[in-house]
Amino acid sequence: MEVLGFVPAKTILFRSKFTATTGKETVNKPGPPIFENKRRIIQAMVSKPPPAAVENRVQVPTMSPELAAPAQSETLLKVSPSSLQCEAGYLVPNPWAEAAEEEENGALGGGMEYLTKILMSSVYDVAMESELQLATKLSKRLGNNVWLKREDLQPVFSFKLRGAYNMMAKLPKDQRDRGVICSSAGNHAQGVALSAQKLGCDAVIVMPVTTPEIKWSSVERLGAKVVLVGDSYDEAQSYAKRQAEEEGRTFIPPFDDPDVISGQGTIGMEIVRQMQVMPGPIHAIFVPIGGGGLIAGIAAYLKTVSPQIKIIGVEPFDANAMALSLHHGQRVVLDQVGGFADGVAVKVVGEETFRLCRKLIDGVVLVSRDAICASIKDMFEEKRNILEPAGALALAGAEAYCKYYRLEDKNVVAITSGANMNFDRLRLVTELANVGRQKEAVLATFMPEEPGSFKRFCELVGQMNITEFNYRYNSEKEKAQVLYSVGLHAKAELEAMIARMQASQLDTLDLTDNDLVKDHLRYLSGGRTHLQNEVLCRFVFPERPGALMKFLDTFSPRWNISLFHYRAQGETGANVLVGIQVAKSEMDEFRDRANNLAYEYAVEENNKAFKLLMY
Ligand SMILES: Cc1ncc(COP(=O)(O)O)c(C=O)c1O
Repeated sequence: MEVLGFVPAKTILFRSKFTATTGKETVNKPGPPIFENKRRIIQAMVSKPPPAAVENRVQVPTMSPELAAPAQSETLLKVSPSSLQCEAGYLVPNPWAEAAEEEENGALGGGMEYLTKILMSSVYDVAMESELQLATKLSKRLGNNVWLKREDLQPVFSFKLRGAYNMMAKLPKDQRDRGVICSSAGNHAQGVALSAQKLGCDAVIVMPVTTPEIKWSSVERLGAKVVLVGDSYDEAQSYAKRQAEEEGRTFIPPFDDPDVISGQGTIGMEIVRQMQVMPGPIHAIFVPIGGGGLIAGIAAYLKTVSPQIKIIGVEPFDANAMALSLHHGQRVVLDQVGGFADGVAVKVVGEETFRLCRKLIDGVVLVSRDAICASIKDMFEEKRNILEPAGALALAGAEAYCKYYRLEDKNVVAITSGANMNFDRLRLVTELANVGRQKEAVLATFMPEEPGSFKRFCELVGQMNITEFNYRYNSEKEKAQVLYSVGLHAKAELEAMIARMQASQLDTLDLTDNDLVKDHLRYLSGGRTHLQNEVLCRFVFPERPGALMKFLDTFSPRWNISLFHYRAQGETGANVLVGIQVAKSEMDEFRDRANNLAYEYAVEENNKAFKLLMY
């Protein structure tokens, strides 16, 4: 039995203080104040069939986050990503650093032990010393020197080959000759495949059956054998571990291993060498966090040789396992994880990586999906390169932090960790990038459904540039509703425009932070109808043939589907908005069927924007 839950991506609450909750119990250390998580989460209990190996490959994109399964022996606290809310750029502190140092008293080894391991790591047979480049435009805009550590330029377009190669190169020859195996649908798979090619060893890469062809074919091209198993990363991982035992292969983990961590730590060693070109000392290094291997390695090196440099992790708001683990002082498991930055979509951080991070890192900065998109755009404008979302995460964190703490004339380094971008995902990135940089706002205005209204509305918009516009006549309503976006130079412009609208009795809402509007409602505007018993749900569909039919078989014709909005997002599961007319007395039956369907879902019970725009 596995518990799956789906909470819609949240609106960021602008709080200057750190606030944390868990669904089950109130946590009171270390960061008060505490508030109740009011959002109702519908959790679907689903039992999954055991994974079956599939020989023929499925060529459809799907959700493929690298979810780390919790260690069997450890019972982990289950928490929701939304239980930690703070402003973007605020440093969620690591309150344990000093205590952890004392607790361990050097006995278990930390920075010092790793320093030697890192210095002795062999990664340069496959990896290159990536450049540390100044981002000139971004530096000018932020008033700080922003340095990019270009791991996206590595042979397989991410840093992951460092750790994989280091671990594999260190295996005794007879062990390596028995072959290696790993489970990954992402950058780790390519790192292992390339390392195996270089070392002349046999490699099996296990991926979920829904892995897009572009991913498994690139691994196959490197000479590894691809086995597609199960619907999720967890299933692929269980299979890989079983096979490792049965076939005597060595399992290569994506992050939680000292040799993998040391391999990634070579990036820290290079930064120390390369920082000589800087006009002053480094203030902070921003590192994306998934399972924590990259930051643990970099921190282990830097905190030993240059402890004054801050090592700051960056996570998406909806994939914040390290920030929450540091807060609770123990590893936690997220009840769900946002898949947009799939390289860091991890539910549980590693055991060893957490031990090191708890001791060594300064804290974690959280950023939104929109901000990641804006940083992908910045990188494109700066270097004409496209980063994948996880690859741009550190850049987004560096920018948010510089702004939040009003940093000036400091040297900050961001690890641009990967460029394996799914091309289809670019559509979403381009749509959100301007919002993420506060250059675009999404609005709704209500006006009398009468001749001349539209003209008056346009006059009030004035000089602002309208970038999107949706309107449809509705004979049953006195007020027409317009959903639109405007380009922005400064927030004051927007505030002035909204004030003009309000003064003319044209009610106007700023919906820029409402993800439901940005993902779905902007495309549905005009479909306003009042329907009896309409239940609004967000589903995550696996992107594969038959998924829609399975959904329809579950609900139709039992209930009328009154709304359906689907938008493919590359390799993640597709977010689908569905309206279904279900009488209150039939809700239990509806939930049973939804749970059996085993797609993640949540009922949108109180989305104000939906009520205003669609009813
Ligand atoms: C591009 C990219 N960035 C960052 C990470 C996070 O690395 P780690 O899991 O070691 O924290 C990954 C992990 O695969 C990745 O692929």
